[in-house]
Amino acid sequence: MTNNIVDFINLHRDRYVEELKSYLAIPSISALPQHQPDVRRCAEWTAQELERIGMQNVRLIETPGNPVVYADWLGAAGAPTMLFYGHYDVQPVDPVDQWTSPPFDATVRDGEIYARGSADDKGQIFMHLKAIEAWLKQAGSLPVNIKVFIEGEEEVGSKHLDQFVREHKDQLAADVVVISDSPMFDRGIPSICYGLRGLAYFQIDIRGTKTDLHSGSFGGAVANPAFVLGQILAQMKDKGGRVKIAGFYDDVRPLREEEREQWKRLPFNEKRYRKDLGAPKLFGERGYTTLERVWARPTFEVNGLLAGFTGEGAKTVIPATAMAKISMRLVPDQDPDKVATLFEAYVKKVAPKTVEVTLTRMHGGKPWMADFDNRYVQAAGRAIEQGFGKSPVFNREGGSIPVVSTFQEVLGVPSVLFGIGLPDENAHAPNEKLDLSNFHNGVIAAAFLYEELGKLR
Ligand code: BES
Ligand code: ZN
Repeated sequence: MTNNIVDFINLHRDRYVEELKSYLAIPSISALPQHQPDVRRCAEWTAQELERIGMQNVRLIETPGNPVVYADWLGAAGAPTMLFYGHYDVQPVDPVDQWTSPPFDATVRDGEIYARGSADDKGQIFMHLKAIEAWLKQAGSLPVNIKVFIEGEEEVGSKHLDQFVREHKDQLAADVVVISDSPMFDRGIPSICYGLRGLAYFQIDIRGTKTDLHSGSFGGAVANPAFVLGQILAQMKDKGGRVKIAGFYDDVRPLREEEREQWKRLPFNEKRYRKDLGAPKLFGERGYTTLERVWARPTFEVNGLLAGFTGEGAKTVIPATAMAKISMRLVPDQDPDKVATLFEAYVKKVAPKTVEVTLTRMHGGKPWMADFDNRYVQAAGRAIEQGFGKSPVFNREGGSIPVVSTFQEVLGVPSVLFGIGLPDENAHAPNEKLDLSNFHNGVIAAAFLYEELGKLR
């Protein structure tokens, strides 16, 4: 790559950070209806930025949900086409009092930028936009054809994207998909991710009586929904961390010995991992290592609970209702719909007749796993080496990006997941952050990536 592209990138570091701050200032929280206008404003900001850096055919395309942003630059005759995917929506910020600086007032401390969306995913999108900008401003062209496709519903399960990709199959057609929406293996250890877990998400509502009751007058005469909810949840996993839902493991693809061996060689420090999390002891399915549990085994988790009196002091009451949000992380070859049906049947079986149980399916996503022995992944490896001074390790991840399996199925091309977040980036939690040296190295790596992909004719 011509030196002047790297020079241009290095020269503009401070500007990148200032611009990123404006992007991060938009509270594009897709889960909360009151932020709908901000979500749209964020899509518009993204589109304007694409226009500004010199992309063509910039469009905001409506879906039944939040708009997607599309742009392309297809002037690299004879070179392959890459589809860059990301999401401009972010997670809610609660508990907001635990943030050191306001979530939408991006603040740099010790070389890290703190804001909701800094790592997941605006910072990682912006890294690509700046790499594209460097090529277009400095060379006047891109070495590869690029289609940019950025959605606004990833954090709520990408419910409209599957259909969108199917309907816009030709518009999105490419030779390879590039995604930067995941953490790297560890600080100083860049990685390429070749597997993601899937998801099935539910809300459970339990009603015991018409209204809350005096726990003295009625305690002992009726079932307590909060207690019943606890009993139901307690039946979901055994002491060894195995999910008890009948049929849950039927379609789980067993881990290959070879893969297990590879993972054992990764520089994973379990003691440090536990300490960093602040957990007194780690817990997970018996018979598997921590990395295996997170990357290759399914799990059942409670995401939130709501019931009864939780204010200060004490109140003697039997709540009329109780609610839980739960989710199951899935691995190849589990199917979210099938697992959802198994869960419904199991709850029906274990729930007592003393209460009314309502299950609401929220969102889902299929797991994804790919072969990483292809020339696009190799090209990405070379680019990462240029940007980070180290060749990447190959890992799977425990998180989900629902559209990735759709890309595989509908577009039929490989995805390269080149994420530059860090495992301690606090995604979805207070004080989300992005390491700025990873960001800047990532811009350089992305610029090299386009060149490397362009050579694959
Ligand atoms: N960036 C994450 C996906 C991710 C997380 C990849 C961790 C690798 C490691 C993404 O924004 C995300 O949070 N996805 C949701 C999807 C869900 C709502 C369907 C997730 O995993 O919870
Ligand atoms: Zn996320």
